[in-house]
Amino acid sequence: MHEPVGFRSIHRARFQAEPAIFVAPGRVNLIGEHTDYAEGFVMPAAIDFATLAGISPRSDGKIVIYSENFKEQRWFDAASLPAQAGKRWSDYPLGVLSILAAEGHSIPSLSLSLWGDVPLGSGLSSSAALEVATALAVLSLIGSTYAGPALARLCQRAENEFVGANCGIMDQFISANGKANHALLLDCRDLSFKLAPIPPNVALVIANTMVKHSIAGGDYKTRRAESEAACAVIACHRPGAKFLRDATLDDLDKWGHEMAPNSLLRARHVISENLRTLAAAVALAKGDMVELGRLMAEAHRSYSQDFEGSCVEADAMVSLAQDLPGLIGARLTGGGFGGCTINLVEQSEAKAFSEALASRYAARFGIQPQIHICHASDGAHRLA
Ligand code: GLA
Repeated sequence: MHEPVGFRSIHRARFQAEPAIFVAPGRVNLIGEHTDYAEGFVMPAAIDFATLAGISPRSDGKIVIYSENFKEQRWFDAASLPAQAGKRWSDYPLGVLSILAAEGHSIPSLSLSLWGDVPLGSGLSSSAALEVATALAVLSLIGSTYAGPALARLCQRAENEFVGANCGIMDQFISANGKANHALLLDCRDLSFKLAPIPPNVALVIANTMVKHSIAGGDYKTRRAESEAACAVIACHRPGAKFLRDATLDDLDKWGHEMAPNSLLRARHVISENLRTLAAAVALAKGDMVELGRLMAEAHRSYSQDFEGSCVEADAMVSLAQDLPGLIGARLTGGGFGGCTINLVEQSEAKAFSEALASRYAARFGIQPQIHICHASDGAHRLA
């Protein structure tokens, strides 16, 4: 994280008060895409791009929120917070306040400063970082604490119910519960997880296609609906199959012909992705990097061809990486339709890999991609 010089002094100068400061990271998903809302498995890591939230009490009945990124301040009445989103950055902190109020907390007057370096719209969960940082800050001011999984649920509710994006639990969960040098194998059914250590000689190289990604857009919704429709067909025959987590490839062989063609493809991705994610955790634990790379390649193929969640640029970013020295595995990460690829790369080759990938991509598309060598980081916590 590259904190702007004096985040503390920005808050102090603006609000004449000493802030408590909290940090919440963005994330990268190693494997397990569009499986979270099907109660399946994901394997994300928190990264060293994050949001900071500085908070201090006020006594004038106002809630004042300042974004250093947008250089904009917004005022609200603590007693009558907006009931609806307004399609701006402040929806995320307001969503958290609104769900906290819905969960029975009374929201006091407060000043909140926000700043982050998670690239926006790049599929690295800038919104989850903003929600989780806000939630921690406000909870500390009101003297309450939520355990990590409950904090993630609170923030997911803010995004689902206030912002209006129908995301799963993965992003908020890893932002709240990440661990340095580890990914998490998360079971999105019961939120139990296992730590998956990332070997010290493996770098997380995140390559931004510079194609904007948004989960508020129609494609995420459509794909989700298509995969849920496939599950509904299976549930007619096997009422126990409430989510695609409960379905098998065998179910698709039996009843796939009753599904719309797109639904069948989406379901094949989700069901096979759950199997790959479990297998990837085993490969990582054994240090079998060849198998991990193979699973990531298969996951990308499935995401791109069956789920149709990729784009020309992301497919190219993955294929341009294939013969570069040091590559273990590459795939599109996050909600899809743009954003970033995750490349697991031998640490000693990471810099040369990043430069070569950037120049190949620039030569292909005439766009300079941002490429970051990231580290798996701790989840949200108080900084100072
Ligand atoms: C977005 C959502 C997540 C998850 C991914 C796809 O990041 O916020 O809940 O569904 O897309 O795996």
